[in-house]
Amino acid sequence: MSNLTEAVDKNKIPKHVAVIMDGNGRWAKERGQNRLDGHAMGVDSVRATLKAARELGISYLTLYAFSTENWSRPKDEVDGLMDLLVQSITNEIDELNENGVRLLAIGDIDGLPEKCSHSLKQAIIETAKNDEISLILALNYSSKWEITKAIKSIASDIKSNLIDVDQISGELISSYLATKGIPDPELLIRTSGEHRLSNFLLWQIAYAEFYFTDVHWPDFGREQFIQALIDFQRRERRFGKVSEQIIAD
Ligand code: IPE
Ligand code: IPE
Ligand code: MG
Repeated sequence: MSNLTEAVDKNKIPKHVAVIMDGNGRWAKERGQNRLDGHAMGVDSVRATLKAARELGISYLTLYAFSTENWSRPKDEVDGLMDLLVQSITNEIDELNENGVRLLAIGDIDGLPEKCSHSLKQAIIETAKNDEISLILALNYSSKWEITKAIKSIASDIKSNLIDVDQISGELISSYLATKGIPDPELLIRTSGEHRLSNFLLWQIAYAEFYFTDVHWPDFGREQFIQALIDFQRRERRFGKVSEQIIAD
């Protein structure tokens, strides 16, 4: 075990870590390469981060892989990303099963090209029984899409007399989101220096700790992930209370 891994407090492992994987394009540009080369390299970072998360006992790892806004990118890049998605899922499925990784997806999956939604749904079925860690891919995802959809479903269920207006609570709203049944992330990591959320998990990260690093996603791996975790573990999460109350607990 490396010194860095030993520095992790095994009693303070978050259940759920979410990551905005950013900087593939800049990583490629800095090397005079095509943006798609950066995305391809990013797959190795996914593998390394997933392995570290699994070994540390994290139960859920959510990765923002494609936002609803990303459709606005040049067609070549969007097509390349979709091909990379299918290719990665196909290549990784055996390893996911060997390592007990359950694949899940949040986002408008039916809005993806058929070949993507098909391989994704297949991989979700084939890994459904795994219980070491859940890897949640946010694909064709945006928080405003998710919340809008939830509000429509709640309104429709009220209209059909399935629920009453007075039953609307934070808990009920959570149960209408794509992340239903999944605990909220305690830690949100964004790579590559931008300090924004880009329409990611707005409801679920109400009390998450944020960790920003300048490292581009293709340069992110086990060491950077553990550093984020150690930083998270040093923080005092007060949830509105004062420090003395937290210490007394
Ligand atoms: C993140 O890297 C991957 C996706 C959004 C799909 P970017 O492609 O956003 O990389 P930068 O931000 O342009 O460097
Ligand atoms: C956010 O990254 C989406 C993903 C990581 C998939 P972007 O690079 O698309 O975010 P913005 O547009 O710069 O905020
Ligand atoms: Mg970006």
